[in-house]
Amino acid sequence: MPSLHMNAPDGAFAETVIMPGDPLRAKYIAETFLDDAKQVTDVRNMLGFTGSYKGEPLSVMAHGMGTPSALIYCTELVQHYGVKRMLRVGSCGAVHPDVQLRDIIIAQGASTDSAAMKQRLGPFDFAATASYGLLEKAVNSARALGTQHRIGSIFTSDLFYWPEGDIYDRLAKYNILAIEMEAAAVYSVAAEFGVEALAIATVSDHIRTGAALSTEERQTTFDQMIELGLATVSA
Ligand code: ADE
Repeated sequence: MPSLHMNAPDGAFAETVIMPGDPLRAKYIAETFLDDAKQVTDVRNMLGFTGSYKGEPLSVMAHGMGTPSALIYCTELVQHYGVKRMLRVGSCGAVHPDVQLRDIIIAQGASTDSAAMKQRLGPFDFAATASYGLLEKAVNSARALGTQHRIGSIFTSDLFYWPEGDIYDRLAKYNILAIEMEAAAVYSVAAEFGVEALAIATVSDHIRTGAALSTEERQTTFDQMIELGLATVSA
């Protein structure tokens, strides 16, 4: 039976799913890193694949851009398809002066401006945090692989284009390393249904300095991040 937004049959997804935002990135990951990958869903061109990695079943499913899109795909993966582990692999814009282009951020927690997240705990704020087991595996894997990484908190925003203001200074003051658009959503679904989640993200641009990775550098750091993600979920 398909879910509302995916046309994969029951049992089509592995218990562990790697989740980029971009459907074509999902296709690239499946074709480049998985064995025997087959496309399992294509509704709205939001592509998903299942294959294996080191002999274990593994899926890749795109979650699109922003909190509402990520909430839909993550909720259906967990509720409808029985997924137990979601690893978001994305990009982010740095706001903290200590963060450098090419760093891979392992997101311990995600603050957010998302109105959707406010509905989680009624009048209170939900603290979106990574699952410790996955976080520890990612950190150990990054150290073993020699991957340039930072562990810390990020900000999941509904806005990509911010109005003028001091928001970036305020985020950096609270030791927030970078901005992206989905981690808090993925963490909140994992918390709601008692499954595991982690987000890792390459620093593709530095919002304070305007520096940005070239297309080739984006590809190289993206590949490094996928290798870190695969080491994490297979550890
Ligand atoms: N992803 C990559 N760069 C970003 C930025 N500057 N803001 C939000 N998400 C991003």
